[in-house]
Amino acid sequence: MNGRPVPDDFYEVAKPRLYGRIGRELRVARHVLDIGCGACELTEFLARGYHQDVTGVDVSSESFPRRARCTTSGRVRCVCRDARQLDFIKDEKIDAVVTMWALHEMTYPLEILSEAWRVLRPGGEILIVDFPRDSLAQRLWNETYCRPDELAEMLRETHFSLIRSRAIERGQILWAKGYRPEAIADRKRPAAPSAEKRLTKT
Ligand SMILES: C[S@@+](CC[C@H](N)C(=O)[O-])C[C@H]1O[C@@H](n2cnc3c(N)ncnc32)[C@H](O)[C@@H]1O
Repeated sequence: MNGRPVPDDFYEVAKPRLYGRIGRELRVARHVLDIGCGACELTEFLARGYHQDVTGVDVSSESFPRRARCTTSGRVRCVCRDARQLDFIKDEKIDAVVTMWALHEMTYPLEILSEAWRVLRPGGEILIVDFPRDSLAQRLWNETYCRPDELAEMLRETHFSLIRSRAIERGQILWAKGYRPEAIADRKRPAAPSAEKRLTKT
């Protein structure tokens, strides 16, 4: 991070840049799942910009767009569901899972990562974009955020491979990714993590 102060509107300004970055990262995927999609903005961006079939899932449908807006591209579907239980998606159906600014709100992140693992095809990618601990978000909203190494550990615990977790955008964004292993021997669904794991309060 350089010494310049981070303005309060940093995340608002960074959002289009992040959308572009997410789109490029997941561009080869056809079926994408957006966990904690909120108003489905990213969901729609990916469907429009990358012609992907994107399912947005959120535990609350309050911010979902109206049906007409939601179906403009015909590739977006918004489903109101707790991401711990995505039983409407069969095993190995999804090429990429993304979750933006949402994992820190989830009470059982390991269960959600486990469910993401189940629906991903072997070789499929998970991308987590969130706020890191001690970032501007901490000052603005003071929720519970984790460090890159903690998120990497959660991805390891839920059996993802090729994990990369780091802070980007002047240290204000947590960017972590991993893959469901390709190897046949690894395809059996691992046991779900037993302990309820919550992010540690700072
Ligand atoms: C801060 S909002 C982010 C929304 C959107 N991804 C964005 O970037 O604008 C976090 C979202 O996560 C959702 N959420 C929290 N726990 C969830 C869960 N267990 N399953 C699905 N969605 C959840 C909340 O309802 C909320 O809409």
